[in-house]
Amino acid sequence: MSMGRAMPHDTAPLHVTGAARYVDDIPLPAGALHLAFGLSTIAHGDILSVDLSAVRAAPGVMMVLSAADFDEMPDCSPSAHDEPLLAVGRVHYLGQPVFLVVADSHLAARKAARLGRVDYAPLPAILTVDDALAAGSRFEAGPVVWAKGDASAAIAAAAHVIEGEMEVGGQEHFYLEGQIAAAVPQEGGDMLIHSSTQHPTEIQHKVAHALHIPMHGVRVEVRRMGGGFGGKESQGNALAIACALAARATGRACKMRYDRDDDMMITGKRHDLRIRYRAGFDEAGRVAGVEFQHLFRCGWALDLSIPVADRAMLHSDNCYHLTDVRLESYRLRTNTQSATAFRGFGGPQGMVGIERVMDHIAHHRGMDPLALRRLNFYAGMGETEEVASRGGQTLNATTSGGQPPHPRGISAKMNEVQTTPYHMPVEDFIGHELVAALELSSGYGARRLAIAAWNKASPVMKRGIALTPVKFGISFTLTHLNQAGALVHVYQDGSIHLNHGGTEMGQGLFQKVAQVAAGVFGVDMAAVKITATDTAKVPNTSATAASSGSDLNGMAAQAACLTIRGRMAEFLAQRHQAQPSDVRFADGFVRVGGARYSFAEAAALVYAARVSLSATGFYATPQITWDRAKGRGRPFLYFAYGAAVTEVVIDTLTGENRILRADLLHDTGASLNPALDIGQVEGAYVQGAGWLTMEELVWDDKGALRTHAPSTYKIPACSDRPPVFNVALWGQANRAGTIGKSKAVGEPPFMLGISAFLALSDAVAACGDGTRYVALDAPATPERILAAVERQRDV
Ligand code: MTE
Ligand code: MOS
Repeated sequence: MSMGRAMPHDTAPLHVTGAARYVDDIPLPAGALHLAFGLSTIAHGDILSVDLSAVRAAPGVMMVLSAADFDEMPDCSPSAHDEPLLAVGRVHYLGQPVFLVVADSHLAARKAARLGRVDYAPLPAILTVDDALAAGSRFEAGPVVWAKGDASAAIAAAAHVIEGEMEVGGQEHFYLEGQIAAAVPQEGGDMLIHSSTQHPTEIQHKVAHALHIPMHGVRVEVRRMGGGFGGKESQGNALAIACALAARATGRACKMRYDRDDDMMITGKRHDLRIRYRAGFDEAGRVAGVEFQHLFRCGWALDLSIPVADRAMLHSDNCYHLTDVRLESYRLRTNTQSATAFRGFGGPQGMVGIERVMDHIAHHRGMDPLALRRLNFYAGMGETEEVASRGGQTLNATTSGGQPPHPRGISAKMNEVQTTPYHMPVEDFIGHELVAALELSSGYGARRLAIAAWNKASPVMKRGIALTPVKFGISFTLTHLNQAGALVHVYQDGSIHLNHGGTEMGQGLFQKVAQVAAGVFGVDMAAVKITATDTAKVPNTSATAASSGSDLNGMAAQAACLTIRGRMAEFLAQRHQAQPSDVRFADGFVRVGGARYSFAEAAALVYAARVSLSATGFYATPQITWDRAKGRGRPFLYFAYGAAVTEVVIDTLTGENRILRADLLHDTGASLNPALDIGQVEGAYVQGAGWLTMEELVWDDKGALRTHAPSTYKIPACSDRPPVFNVALWGQANRAGTIGKSKAVGEPPFMLGISAFLALSDAVAACGDGTRYVALDAPATPERILAAVERQRDV
């Protein structure tokens, strides 16, 4: 059985030998041209004049376009039609494309793009959260408010109250392969696009629109991306549209690749935000009411900011049952890059808020933060079942062998299924068991004591530890996106051609879906050819996003394979006077009524009998409903869970810090491929920790992004990987009816990185007398840590 097996990524050997083909490696027809954008040099202002004569005269330049050359400027937005390909009359951020150069080489285009002379009448630039609040600059008239119960009354009645504020930085995607697209003109005005995109259908749609042709005139092909991380859901549109326009105008193939600096200057990043919170709680630390205010800096255009900021609200509870809660979210418009999707899609921003609140309350009550967290967890499945059966036995069914039951007593409330702040019942909560297992395997309790003792004896270096849980909702919150298609052919030699709507960005989706297909036919993986995503094979696809790639495309591919297998079984059953259900597909053979055919023989027989060996498959996620206006419904089919313990050390003289050890336990249901899942968990943790600890985006007071290259923007390197890194999968089947009972894995473990941030906070706390809450902002860079240490020592 191939489904569920730990197998390597299908093209791992090609990645490491350099043979994997990316868009830039695709040979283009002779005479192909190269594109570059000329960028705005101010953050906000009216364009007075554009002088491109030096650009046109530069060596190798074939064509230069600016707003003056268009009757109607093509739009690049995935949402609101507010992103002109080139600035029209006004620029909205420093780095915005103003003109387009088409030249005979990549370098010629880039060099020429520097020669444009644009005069501006500057306008006041709205750069920060405070600027935007002062100017009332936002995308929606009022804030989005969702509530359950009465938070303000609950807080007013509570024994204790805390309030606070936290700045949370953004994040550059830093995919290794930058944004790139190529357009190859076809006969009759059609266009073939190669794009590094998570969303081929979106590229097809936007290019068709720009060329004023139907979608059937545009075919988009994506073999793989060198990483996307959400940064290629919408940010590739401009390159594909520019290439298509230039290809149509010149009749030549056109390619555009942003060099790294341009990529960082032009494209959107993770949203940064300010979180304000107020929470009331009792003596024991049980939360009575919480209010959050999110102030999201969305940049100049809408892009995906609404669903991103919504998902932050949807993760403001994380693992905690909040009875009375009010969420208020502002989506601020600023003269900066348009912030976009990034692994977690707002979820991390919401989750870090409630984790901060839990940490703050634990400090207030002088409690172990883990005990405080647990006290506020949702009731587990075990508890619900236990109540239902009035016995103590069922608890063990959902507890991994030998784990102590969670310490929380059975309360009257547990008869009702607890709901999230958006009124969705939480029916699959495994946080108690999972955290108990991790607590044990990581030695959390003993290490916490040991660290306290170590810190007492260590005046300069201080250690810290934190355990944080994750509960992440799986499904697109825009319900109609939860669909997928697949196309499968079985050839007469028994080889299988597999195609589906998902894209490969390193996460291993293609391998997982191929394992599903091989499993249905009972053949070896080598029999299944994985092929590039192609809008002409599977239409109307959703972005490969929201971690739903394998959930959706795995099901669609399985459906297609089952259709073909059903036809094969029916034919062979007839031939052997058996029932189709008696036909077995396993080990590369098809067995029926004592006969045994190789899969290839079976395929040849079925072909000769004139039975179709090709089928499409389709899947739409059941059960989900979401009313975003009311903030009510069941936006997610299920939740993915996880927990992490991180131990760090800080140097209190410099603020420098390291992760010493990380223990991760993550729930991927019955994993489709544990090797790939462990890779996703490791990578996501490191990326999440990077977001909150070292990756810092700095804009100057003119709105120029100063961190626009690896020289100034620091992502975790191999040497930042925790020296002790214990990563395990929870391994219990998903209760929801997903493919192979697996769970989505792409994004949820990103938020395990929150434990690194809170471990740093814990280390800083060791510097003072414990009276002042550390209140660290993110990212916790050495500078911030040093400042926090000094605040602690000041008391
Ligand atoms: N893993 C790798 N190696 N590269 C990526 O770009 N993107 C992440 C995650 N894991 C990414 C990755 C993001 S943002 C998402 S939404 C999921 O993969 C998308 O793929 P999936 O739905 O197949 O999990
Ligand atoms: Mo992932 S941020 O949903 O592409």
